[in-house]
Amino acid sequence: MNKVLGVLSLACVLLLAGCKAADKRADIEKEVEEVLAQMTLDEKIAVLHAQSKFSARGVPRLGIPELWCDDGPHGVRPDTFWDKWASAGQTNDSCTAYPSLTCLAASWNRDLAYRYGRSVGEEARYRKKNVLLGPGVNICRTPLNGRNFEYMGEDPYLAGELAARYVQGVQSNKVAACVKHFALNNQECHRMDGNVNVDDRTLYEIYLPAFKKAVQQGGAWSIMAAYNQYDGAFACHNARLIKDILKGEWGFDGAAISDWGGVHDTEGAARGGLDIEFGTAGAYNDYYLAEPYKARIVSGELSEDELNDKVRRALRLNFRTRADGYSGSFLSPEHTADSRRIGGEGIVLLRNNGVLPLAGNARKIVVLGENAIRPMVVGGSSSSLKTQHEISPLQGIRDAFPEAEVVYCRTYYSGMPTPGSYNYSQYDITETRPAGELLTEALAAVEDADYVIFVGGLNKNETQDCEGEDRLSYELPFGQNAIIERLAAVRPDLVFVNISGSPVALPFAEKVGAVVQAWYLGSETGNALADVLSGAVNPSGKLPFSFPVSLEEGPLKTERQYPGSADEKGVWQVYYEEGIYVGYRWYDLHGGVQFPFGYGLSYTTFEYGQAKASAKVMKDRLTVSIPLTNTGDRAGAEVVQLYIADEEASVDRPVKELKGFEKVWLEPGETKTVSFTIGRDALSFFDASRHEWVAEPGVFKALVGASSADIRSEVEFRLK
Ligand code: BGC
Repeated sequence: MNKVLGVLSLACVLLLAGCKAADKRADIEKEVEEVLAQMTLDEKIAVLHAQSKFSARGVPRLGIPELWCDDGPHGVRPDTFWDKWASAGQTNDSCTAYPSLTCLAASWNRDLAYRYGRSVGEEARYRKKNVLLGPGVNICRTPLNGRNFEYMGEDPYLAGELAARYVQGVQSNKVAACVKHFALNNQECHRMDGNVNVDDRTLYEIYLPAFKKAVQQGGAWSIMAAYNQYDGAFACHNARLIKDILKGEWGFDGAAISDWGGVHDTEGAARGGLDIEFGTAGAYNDYYLAEPYKARIVSGELSEDELNDKVRRALRLNFRTRADGYSGSFLSPEHTADSRRIGGEGIVLLRNNGVLPLAGNARKIVVLGENAIRPMVVGGSSSSLKTQHEISPLQGIRDAFPEAEVVYCRTYYSGMPTPGSYNYSQYDITETRPAGELLTEALAAVEDADYVIFVGGLNKNETQDCEGEDRLSYELPFGQNAIIERLAAVRPDLVFVNISGSPVALPFAEKVGAVVQAWYLGSETGNALADVLSGAVNPSGKLPFSFPVSLEEGPLKTERQYPGSADEKGVWQVYYEEGIYVGYRWYDLHGGVQFPFGYGLSYTTFEYGQAKASAKVMKDRLTVSIPLTNTGDRAGAEVVQLYIADEEASVDRPVKELKGFEKVWLEPGETKTVSFTIGRDALSFFDASRHEWVAEPGVFKALVGASSADIRSEVEFRLK
């Protein structure tokens, strides 16, 4: 009886919450119509374009406030001058910096994605921003893409699941998320003009699903149209992308915002479905959606209905993000804790011959490498942050081992200055000694050390992990490979910590004691890293993209595919001729991967039992379950992954595709049964000729594993 009452009251609460949300929506729609009816043409035009670097006007006469945006996605960017990109030098905008989105993706934790969004959204609300420019969900098509670190990996299902939760978290603060960059912005080389040629099946199966999920499940209130072209039209003018797919097929009722400077003409932006224009060069009144737009409305060349649709969307965004007395929070201890936790859960242990975790009674620890002291919250371009504190890896290790002698040697020098005017570093990171001397010093220091930890990788300068350009090479820069070979020859137990937001070549991995993939971790970098090195946190991250042995092993074989080339008219063309075979979908067929998608080790071990399906034949839904046991001696978490293989298909299909995952926490010896319920969508491919998703009857396999290359159990079923 009590149970029945409990269920009934829960149902009532949910129903009430649903009614309240519907009421609120109806209220906003009513208000939008009332305000729209009172607006003059000038007032309508004013809300559709920028009035400063990051804001658009409201309607002061009707009490409608300005709309303020800010980057995104890893923290709230310091305020810029009204009219200049430079930091305005405020003293109240040093934020909490969160780990990069690749790190969040590597956590494979939906709840954590919500917590990340909620936490950064609280900071955005506090700073009075209506729109936070993120998350980025462009698929990692090449390890060289300069912006991989701002995105969520190579798989559309993983990226979509986490993006949707991040969006919900941000928006729980009445701050709009702005999902970017829509769409096909998968490289920085020629990002402003490159034209992507991609077939529909690939577009729908690989490059759109994360956006769709962020819009439909996440309920995103805004989306950012990309710089690049698709099918001969700039993404900001692209009627197919914005009007047909986003607003038509997906029913998006929010605002489509241009990337900063992504609009190139008035007709294109107006007719293509774009709503708000930012970042165009020149005077604000000359923006394409400003006076030139007004002139075409007055002359009748462009329709007023189209204009009103844009204004409705701009107003809706404004009303949805009204603070209503709520002021968020900034730099709270909870935010610091969130940042540290996300870092600890996203770090991936790639190799461990037993050297990790470090023993608590270590006497001497030698820390090597520039990235042990290099500030990394600044850099990377628009996602660069000014943070209240940034714990370096060196500091984190010192704090975690207060009894040990911790010796630092630079070992290599990138020669790259730390970008940004607000360099927050406890260390002077310039270096004048020659390379040979740095290495000699390190070789001498490691001899009697209990542990040697090399913190290297990429950094956030141009041509590293940075917006605007792609990386020049898949190899680690600054001579690191040769240096690590030399060090590993005397210290084969060396722990290599790779700081990067992209896959890199790790040819020395077998020659060192451990390899830790540590991303960019934000304010709490050193603490999150030390948590994992010391074993205070048992690593549970899994790779959100494949690390191929070399680029030659990957799917992009020709210049046409990457980086593209100019056609006879001078237009930069990129052909996605690998189709749906991106990331593990390619390596599953051709091999060549060093660390596979979904891979990551723990300090404990997990045993998978036998996978079972709830039925032999699937009608609309099917549940696959599998017991998982922690067989080691410490508590830990495992990301159990469900892949589906279509055994009898009329079209080419990948060997398998990720369709479910769960992160499961287990005490030593504990067993839990993990269940995944899938629908027909998990079995479908996109049939471009019919323009619909098709699940063909026949035999399928559910593959359950610890990575894309480590399937532990499988079960067959049929679709009728
Ligand atoms: C970037 C966006 C960013 C915007 C505003 C653009 O250059 O591509 O991701 O949100 O600038 O800073």
